[in-house]
Amino acid sequence: MIETIRTLAQTYGPSGHEDQIRSIIQAEIADVADEIETDALGNLIASLNGNGAGRRVMLAAHMDEIGVIITHVDEKGFLRFGPVGGVSPALLVGNRVRFADGTMGVIGIEKRENTNRTPRLDQLYIDVGARDRASCPVKVGAMAGFDRGFLAQGDRWVAKALDDRIGCAILVELMLAINRQKLALPHTVHFVFSVQEEVGVRGATTAAFSLAPEVGIAVDVTATGDTPKSHPMAVSLGDGPAIKVKDGGMIAHPGLVRLMVQRAEEAEIPYQLEVLTYGSTDARAMQLTQSGVIAGCVSIPCRYVHSNSEMVDARDVQNSVELLLAVLKGSLEL
Ligand code: CO
Ligand code: ZN
Repeated sequence: MIETIRTLAQTYGPSGHEDQIRSIIQAEIADVADEIETDALGNLIASLNGNGAGRRVMLAAHMDEIGVIITHVDEKGFLRFGPVGGVSPALLVGNRVRFADGTMGVIGIEKRENTNRTPRLDQLYIDVGARDRASCPVKVGAMAGFDRGFLAQGDRWVAKALDDRIGCAILVELMLAINRQKLALPHTVHFVFSVQEEVGVRGATTAAFSLAPEVGIAVDVTATGDTPKSHPMAVSLGDGPAIKVKDGGMIAHPGLVRLMVQRAEEAEIPYQLEVLTYGSTDARAMQLTQSGVIAGCVSIPCRYVHSNSEMVDARDVQNSVELLLAVLKGSLEL
């Protein structure tokens, strides 16, 4: 599983440009899915057919990552850019970015009068080493993601884009585990590797509308409250998957929260309860589709979300797979 995570995390895939990620995932699950399709927006939907006794379930993990989009190229070939998703200017200077064709760039900063202030995005630029606009290989509209190697140190894994490639890897591993264990699930499960989450849960919105699930569960990262002077939050790295109760965009279905807690306790899987005071996930899109869907989220605790060094704990990742297995094996009548 670690090799899949390493590959997924290091690959290019800002919102709307998830093709490379989709190919990797598709190759991993081709042999174990009953059906695979890609929809008009680019969502990859892999399905396992149930035996008719269970429910229609949608699981979702987003393939896209935050990034930047080129808005202007000056005469010397320096690039100005805007954000794709929640990009923090304070975390950008000195970073390297990668474009779809592999072109690399370095983020520089203008001379500023007041260096005590956080830089604004419009004071930053990307340098791809071009001599002038004409020879610059990058044009307006090109998108870049961060470039950063994967680090495994003890149980901690660090990389860019673990939001939400870790969720993608968990869904892949879940499909492989169901196949390995020859589990015949009662439910028909649609594994949706969604697009454009970071710009407003757009892929999950259309996928949920077309699949019309009865139960929806997103698998995504959440913040932690265990670092120096962090925003107070009762989630810690390594203490188990976080079962979402509420975030900035949804209130999880209380019955589904109780069911997930019960399955975790029965299987002796460590878990935490998550209340995130901002942000949201694909679960919001699932909950609000059609005439309303029972929805919740299994969150992977993650430090430094939306930086190029997002950190998760390997045990939380494995336990997330176990928790989802425990949930899917049993009844989902709520
Ligand atoms: Co995110
Ligand atoms: Zn995410």
